[in-house]
Amino acid sequence: MAELITIERHILEQQRKFPGASGELTQLLSDVTFAAKLVRREVIRAGLVDILGSAGAQNVQGEEVKKLDQFANEKFIQAIGHHGRFAVMASEENEDIIIPPTEKSGKYVLLFDPLDGSSNIDANVSVGTIFSIYKRKSALGTTATVQDCLQKGVDQVAAGYVIYGSSVMMVYTTGQGVHGFTLDPTIGEFLLSHPNITIPKRGKIYSINEGYYRYFFDGIKKYIKYLQQEDKETNRPYSARYIGSLVADFHRNLLYGGIFIYPRTKKAPEGKLRLLYEANPLAFVCEQAGGRATDGYKRILDIVPEKLHQRTPLFIGSEEDVKIAEEFEQGLREVEHDRELIPSMLAEVSRAESTLLR
Ligand code: AHG
Ligand code: MN
Ligand code: MN
Repeated sequence: MAELITIERHILEQQRKFPGASGELTQLLSDVTFAAKLVRREVIRAGLVDILGSAGAQNVQGEEVKKLDQFANEKFIQAIGHHGRFAVMASEENEDIIIPPTEKSGKYVLLFDPLDGSSNIDANVSVGTIFSIYKRKSALGTTATVQDCLQKGVDQVAAGYVIYGSSVMMVYTTGQGVHGFTLDPTIGEFLLSHPNITIPKRGKIYSINEGYYRYFFDGIKKYIKYLQQEDKETNRPYSARYIGSLVADFHRNLLYGGIFIYPRTKKAPEGKLRLLYEANPLAFVCEQAGGRATDGYKRILDIVPEKLHQRTPLFIGSEEDVKIAEEFEQGLREVEHDRELIPSMLAEVSRAESTLLR
């Protein structure tokens, strides 16, 4: 039988490789895991308790908030805010930064999306929690500010997500690869199930909300056309998969290979996803797994955030797929003519001509 390694032990062992490491990361990540267990407890009972449905409020993004979003948000703030490890927190669900009661001793910053994919809750489709951890920039003993939250993704010390799916998984990185743990609900522990996850260099899946096709710019339209063409060498056509829960779409592509795109559109020129709570943590995980994450032009982790709820277009997944998508986005690549379509197009033209001549 394989050795059972809990998430706490795994983080501790990783830290041991660094002489002088204080063990703080282990505690930070245990805090996150604990909050995730509380959220999971509610998520799996969502159909049983009277917690489903819209709370009738809107979050700071102007989107409808489900009750479970608020629950998850509160649990995270409650479970994590009192341990004295975080100087400041920011959540997708709160307009402003959250200063925990024990802020002054806290050395770290936590940014999180408490419940990602909330539009899927009522249908029992996977949702998730995404988190991102930084060291504070302001001096210890002072009150942290929003500037502590506006750090580049490249400065994250840890990031990851929890996916509440057919099983519950926690995937994290501290910059030493990506590791996945599955919750054994009978003992309440996350056990190492996916050590050293790497994403294939090229996949066969594309995930984009094609319903917005008419709002896409030409580059993305051409890229979709390219993916739908037949070509044995490059394994096309690709399969389309879109759950509508970023964590679930990303997690699947991380394991199988492929690309997820939430592009800038004519309706949403900055894209929809949030840089600090969604793009940065997943970009860190993706790069650590050997993948690539950009906004179509530049690396996500190098973007200097200007505001808390900043949005960004996101191209994330297998390295080669993301590179090709960028070439289309930047207008550097055109779709080749679909040779198979040419005879049928010519036949169409001659039919039209003969109708006109009649
Ligand atoms: P959240 O539930 O945290 O607001 O995030 C929803 C996000 C993300 O999970 C998903 O990828 C995306 O919204 C889907 O958006 P569209 O419905 O516009 O495709
Ligand atoms: Mn989200
Ligand atoms: Mn959310």
